[in-house]
Amino acid sequence: MERPVLRMGHPELRRVAEPVTASELGTAHIASLVEDLWDTMEARGGVGLAATQIGEPRRVVVFGMEWSARYPDAPAIPRTVLVNPVIEPFDDEMEEAWEGCLSVPGMRGVVPRHRRIRYRGLTPEGAPLSRDVEGFHARVVQHECDHLDGILYPMRMTDMSRFGFEEELAGVLGMQDCPPD
Ligand code: NI
Repeated sequence: MERPVLRMGHPELRRVAEPVTASELGTAHIASLVEDLWDTMEARGGVGLAATQIGEPRRVVVFGMEWSARYPDAPAIPRTVLVNPVIEPFDDEMEEAWEGCLSVPGMRGVVPRHRRIRYRGLTPEGAPLSRDVEGFHARVVQHECDHLDGILYPMRMTDMSRFGFEEELAGVLGMQDCPPD
């Protein structure tokens, strides 16, 4: 079921989400939360969504993107549900790129992120999942996991001159290749 997406300023978005407990893994409650996340993300054309964005303060994120003609420079990301995710950067190398967020509708900003990370977590059934990724995939996962700690991408920005309404930024280099996550 599609759910309303909370927007920046809503106090629930600043909450630190609670881990999913072992006894909840594989339950209908978690399956229903995950289904709502997919339905909401897909209805809004997003690349990822965190449970906190629909007012559920639990450590669950979904993300994924097929190659799209709308964003030809963004590589495909496998459709993934991650419960209780943990991120380890490989090194100090950072990379800047445009981001958007379904909780900050109509806007885009340039955000520095770790270029290469390993992420680990569980599937909703409790199976371990670990991937080493870089670039756009790494960026999306960092963005979604930040939501679980109450962090929205403008809070990670270092240059507010590269923050604005996407309609106004339409001609700016690279901005059009950035789907909202
Ligand atoms: Ni977001």
